[in-house]
Amino acid sequence: MTQKEFQTQINDLLKQARQDQAPDWQVKYLGKKGLFKQLSATIKDISDKKAAGQLLNQLKKDLEMLATQKSQAGTPTQESIDYTLPASDEPIGHLHPISQATEKIVSIFAELGFVRVRHPELDDDENVFGRLNMSPGHPARDEWETFFVAHPGKPGKNKIRWVMTPHTSNGQVHEMMRLRQPPIRMINITRTYRRQQDVTHTQMFHQFEGLMVDRDVNITHLKGVLDYFAREFYGPGTKSRIRPFHFQFTEPSFEIDFSCHLCGGTGKLPNGDKCKFCKSGWHEVGGAGMVHPNVLTACGLDPQEYSGFAFGWGIERTYTLQDHIQIDDIRDFYNGNLKFLQQF
Ligand code: DAH
Repeated sequence: MTQKEFQTQINDLLKQARQDQAPDWQVKYLGKKGLFKQLSATIKDISDKKAAGQLLNQLKKDLEMLATQKSQAGTPTQESIDYTLPASDEPIGHLHPISQATEKIVSIFAELGFVRVRHPELDDDENVFGRLNMSPGHPARDEWETFFVAHPGKPGKNKIRWVMTPHTSNGQVHEMMRLRQPPIRMINITRTYRRQQDVTHTQMFHQFEGLMVDRDVNITHLKGVLDYFAREFYGPGTKSRIRPFHFQFTEPSFEIDFSCHLCGGTGKLPNGDKCKFCKSGWHEVGGAGMVHPNVLTACGLDPQEYSGFAFGWGIERTYTLQDHIQIDDIRDFYNGNLKFLQQF
């Protein structure tokens, strides 16, 4: 066999190998008795063995590369794929539990005419504290473990002190100053930030804040709204309870409890055991009160003419107070662990 004929055989073999879809391709071309081995055996008839050996080396490399390509692509035959079959189902995700709770809260308050608003998470500390009756240096500010943010503006010129909102009560200030004209019924839901982190706290969490301002608004309206929310969120029979407390921006101020829906607010299960979910029959959820006259004034409303109530608390807390929810570490909400999140 001449060198030229040998070269032609190599080219033909490569061409055939490329087109071949045989399921036993590897054995057929590169197997012990395969076509490559058979062609290699003919080298004995060739005079320039060195050149022929190089050609064979190259052929082997080409065949091996083809083998890899074919194994990666698979070598499906036309009969094995039915293109008319419906595609297999892709797993579909769902909303994060906090988003689910947020949607539920928004729709409950919407029934009462409260409109959802949102305000920046980075705010002037005047809106977060000052206009809420906590002047600079007021000790009450310490209750909110606030993140202060360095402002890129020229020092001295810009007097604004930026903070990551540690509560949603700044929404009250924004709404009163924006609308100027009651009636106001808002529900402000956003992320809030505090310097705290343990099994019951995350540095970023969510709060919602309600505000109603009009003529002749009083505590009974607040109580009615809280009872309505308790029933709608936790189920029929759930009641609210308000206990005297102190906040700078409300007078009078209260802490809010909801009756435990597992034991019906009695603290005891039907079998006489102490309710493990609440211990006392009530769960503390958040704060509320009648908007302080100083706050109304600071936001441009006349306290002689208008009055209002406000309330606010955490969505994580609201959510985990459902008796079918068991969460050992609240940080699990935000560590991206799908196994945890998929259960909701
Ligand atoms: N902002 C308060 C907090 O973060 C909660 C709160 C208390 C909101 C009383 C209110 C209120 O609107 O009236 O702890």
